[in-house]
Amino acid sequence: MSILPILTAPDPRLKAVSEPVSRVDDEIRKLVDDMLDSMYAEEGIGLAAIQIGVPKRVLVMDLAQKEGRRAPQAFINPRILWASDETTVVQEGCLSVPDIWEDVERPARITAEFLDRDGVLKTVDADGLLSTCLQHEMDHLNGVLFIDYLSKLKRSMALRKVQKARRLEAVS
Ligand code: NI
Repeated sequence: MSILPILTAPDPRLKAVSEPVSRVDDEIRKLVDDMLDSMYAEEGIGLAAIQIGVPKRVLVMDLAQKEGRRAPQAFINPRILWASDETTVVQEGCLSVPDIWEDVERPARITAEFLDRDGVLKTVDADGLLSTCLQHEMDHLNGVLFIDYLSKLKRSMALRKVQKARRLEAVS
């Protein structure tokens, strides 16, 4: 398992549409493990493969971290089957847009299907944080970042802040 650097906006790779996984094999399980390591290293709760530069439809998530325990989950080739008309507004952040937190409106509940790390097809009825997080991470697979939902002004302010922070990091 290894910790890999996480791409930050406006890296063009984050705009890529990721490819479906054709077979859940040891290579994919290694990718899942590397993604979890990389996510935990940055104290994130979710990560898409493209965020470490791998354009495959693979997500990892762990929503139990705040309670001080670990419950890692992998979602391979996830697909939304149903989304509620009811929406919810949640403040989101992203490891690829560090230190930016903004409100995003999304469907409150979704039903999704995915393959788990053993390649077993599962469905999940998600609400609350799981619903928001799944939708946020699934957006990454289509090259969409949460800041893409903001006004042009807010988005360019966010991008400027991220780039400035990275320049400071580079010289320190
Ligand atoms: Ni993200």
